[in-house]
Amino acid sequence: MTTSPAPHDPASPTGATGRRGPFLEGERVQLTDPKGRLHTITLGAGKQFHTHRGYLSHDDLIGSPDGSTVTNTAGVEYLALRPLLSDYVMSMPRGAAVVYPKDAGQIVAFADVFPGATVVEAGVGSGALSMSLLRAVGDHGRVHSFERRDDFATIARANAREFFGVDHPAWTVTVGDLVESLPEAVEPGTVDRVVLDMLAPWECLEVVADALAPGGVLICYVATATQLSRVAEAARDHGGFTEPEAWESLVRGWHLEGLAVRPQHRMHGHTGFLITTRRLAPGVTPPLRKRRPGKGYTDVSTGEALTPEDFGERPVSDKKVRRLARSLDEQSES
Ligand SMILES: C[S@@+](CC[C@H](N)C(=O)[O-])C[C@H]1O[C@@H](n2cnc3c(N)ncnc32)[C@H](O)[C@@H]1O
Repeated sequence: MTTSPAPHDPASPTGATGRRGPFLEGERVQLTDPKGRLHTITLGAGKQFHTHRGYLSHDDLIGSPDGSTVTNTAGVEYLALRPLLSDYVMSMPRGAAVVYPKDAGQIVAFADVFPGATVVEAGVGSGALSMSLLRAVGDHGRVHSFERRDDFATIARANAREFFGVDHPAWTVTVGDLVESLPEAVEPGTVDRVVLDMLAPWECLEVVADALAPGGVLICYVATATQLSRVAEAARDHGGFTEPEAWESLVRGWHLEGLAVRPQHRMHGHTGFLITTRRLAPGVTPPLRKRRPGKGYTDVSTGEALTPEDFGERPVSDKKVRRLARSLDEQSES
């Protein structure tokens, strides 16, 4: 049985139409074999999916409901599902490393990306994060994405078109450096959210601050602690942002089999750190942070003195140390 692709709803071209109902010709379908191996195919009338153990006909899947099974000529049964965005992102072609779904979810939630929002994103890389942002703003929002590399932008556009089935109406991709391109692309103070996934986000803070609306959120995804420190200090030095907050998320899968219910042995131990801050209204300066003068450590990048508190140490009062020493003395004498 063959079914032609459903026309996209012009009012909501990337919405529910393409995500529900029976499998259609031209759609991607994820097949899982009895050993749990995944194969992604694009359905075509008259086409076949071959493995070293037999083949199956795409026509057996076209018109079947999502979540069907299909058996090939060698009797191997496959489960067929429409890939979720998270499945698609993990299997799509990559130019640069992608933001994993667990971090994309955190970014959408903690940057508070809402339907209809205007979002600026750089760099685009393979487009994984762009797709989550587009999902969150919807067809009537706006995602302005910036990418230095033309070849990466081409891969990202192709990946998004393949997933959404159309060129997403909310998306523009500009090839160029964010610092040079952003001021030409958006009016100052009009952007709700900025998401940076790049090597040196601190270099972009000036243009980002100009673009963000008062109260707008900046969120940066960085791979290393040194980048995290540098972007935090740059945001503080800029003076137009709230005190930054940083975290990482660790997701540990669980093995579920009978009574053997336990954490999986393997996990992605590290993906990246997230750091957020919000744009202050024009002319507002952040409340003064009280910091002690340095006692011998120096930040190699800025030359500024660092305090033990810069490394997260809690100050211990001399009085507390004297009390502790006295009680130890008393213990050793008794
Ligand atoms: C790790 S990749 C981004 C991956 C992407 N978030 C994803 O989920 O697929 C970082 C990208 O930022 C781009 N980039 C770095 N600095 C940039 C800048 N100042 N302006 C625009 N793009 C930049 C790089 O070319 C690279 O493609």
